[in-house]
Amino acid sequence: MTQLNRRAFIGSLALTAAFAAVTRSGALAQTPKSLDQWAQDLADLNRDLTTGKITLVDWQDRIGALNTGVELEDLRRYLDFDRLTKAMTFPTKLAETADPHLPTHINVDGIERPWFIRFFGMKKGGAIIPHVHNNMVSSHLIIDGQFHARTFDRMVDLPDDARGDTILLRPARDETMGPGAIVTMSDERENSHWLIAEADRSFTFDVGLVDIAKDRAYTLPANKYNMIFVDPTGEEDGYGLITAPVITFEEATTKFAA
Ligand SMILES: [Fe+2]
Repeated sequence: MTQLNRRAFIGSLALTAAFAAVTRSGALAQTPKSLDQWAQDLADLNRDLTTGKITLVDWQDRIGALNTGVELEDLRRYLDFDRLTKAMTFPTKLAETADPHLPTHINVDGIERPWFIRFFGMKKGGAIIPHVHNNMVSSHLIIDGQFHARTFDRMVDLPDDARGDTILLRPARDETMGPGAIVTMSDERENSHWLIAEADRSFTFDVGLVDIAKDRAYTLPANKYNMIFVDPTGEEDGYGLITAPVITFEEATTKFAA
């Protein structure tokens, strides 16, 4: 082997070794550019909502398209999913949460409402207990496991000091959802949701904005998390509506996550 060929041969061996190392670490599967673009699109979408450029339903449609257009493996790696969730042990049937962060080079300036990105995880039988939201939008992308997801449109609040407050709900979705499926909500569409994990270590990746401009004034006030817990298990009436009693967190946990 000539000196030149020998050098080329050793060089190619080194390249092969480097390639193998990269493959093992999964680095080659990463597409940092496209995920940076995804993150920037997410921030831009949230800015557009808070500055009134798009409607609530636009936000739901667009985040649905954006977040279901990403490779889940790449998204989990980009958001450091394994590290953030590996210590979760799920001692109860309530969700545990962890907040990933977008890279600092993503421009998040000018988003005029508080917003968050968050992993929700639970064990089999665990639940995101049924609730409605006041003046908030959120999306829940299934990124691991499986859920039975139900959503409802919130038709009208019915305050009643004597018999207890209720909310009229119209069932919307009732589906088994695996990785890649998404649920979104706003004041306008599918304001209420209820998710039950059907596999251990089931996770959603959520995006939410709170204190959204109050286009819709609700009769019933929400808690500090913009939530009102409800029991949507009653029978539908002749109009396809469910009269859902407003319940406390403790009542909801006892009934839906005990
Ligand atoms: Fe929610």
